[in-house]
Amino acid sequence: MSRRATLADARPIAELQVQAWLRNYPDFVDPRHVADVDREARAAHWVESLSFGPDETFVLEVAGAVRAFATVGPLRESPAVADAAAAGAGELVALYVDPPAQGAGVGTALLAEAEQALRAAGRHQAVLRTLEGNGLARTFYERHGWSLLAGVLEPHEWGPHVVYRREL
Ligand SMILES: CC(C)(COP(=O)(O)OP(=O)(O)OC[C@H]1O[C@@H](n2cnc3c(N)ncnc32)[C@H](O)[C@@H]1OP(=O)(O)O)[C@@H](O)C(=O)NCCC(=O)NCCS
Repeated sequence: MSRRATLADARPIAELQVQAWLRNYPDFVDPRHVADVDREARAAHWVESLSFGPDETFVLEVAGAVRAFATVGPLRESPAVADAAAAGAGELVALYVDPPAQGAGVGTALLAEAEQALRAAGRHQAVLRTLEGNGLARTFYERHGWSLLAGVLEPHEWGPHVVYRREL
């Protein structure tokens, strides 16, 4: 069972995210992007997000250590998504599992809790974006009821994003 993240979680969340990028992303992202990540800037990003919202972040701990996190919030508007998403849709902004804990069901459990948090916030539909080349994550989301918005590719510094949607 996850809990709401607090400011004290900013650094562990940032470190987990960087570890996942280092482990998973060089398969489909130019490794230099990942190698150049500024850990202090990442931590600062999470301090800001946890302090000011509008997103909500949940962490899952094992033996007192953060092993996964999920962030949900309002939809990030863009022309393609505005056409496809229902009014008041939410967004699954991030879902990361610490590399040593991946493949053991943690992501599945936290995804269900993130979807429940979106429902509790009154959302009836949600959108997520992921890198086009992130095959493991895409298979994972497809197996959990998320549908690709066909033909939608959004530019991103690390490569194009595909967009998924699901009813909640
Ligand atoms: C994608 C992710 C959240 C899935 O969480 P998880 O805890 O590894 O997934 P689960 O154990 O609940 O489910 C495993 C299934 O997910 C898929 N999967 C995704 N990433 C995987 C990984 N790194 N290792 C093993 N399986 C993975 C497989 O299809 C697997 O299916 P299987 O059970 O038939 O083998 C996690 O792997 C992760 O954090 N990846 C790196 C960060 C990332 O890409 N996040 C998504 C960005 S939008």
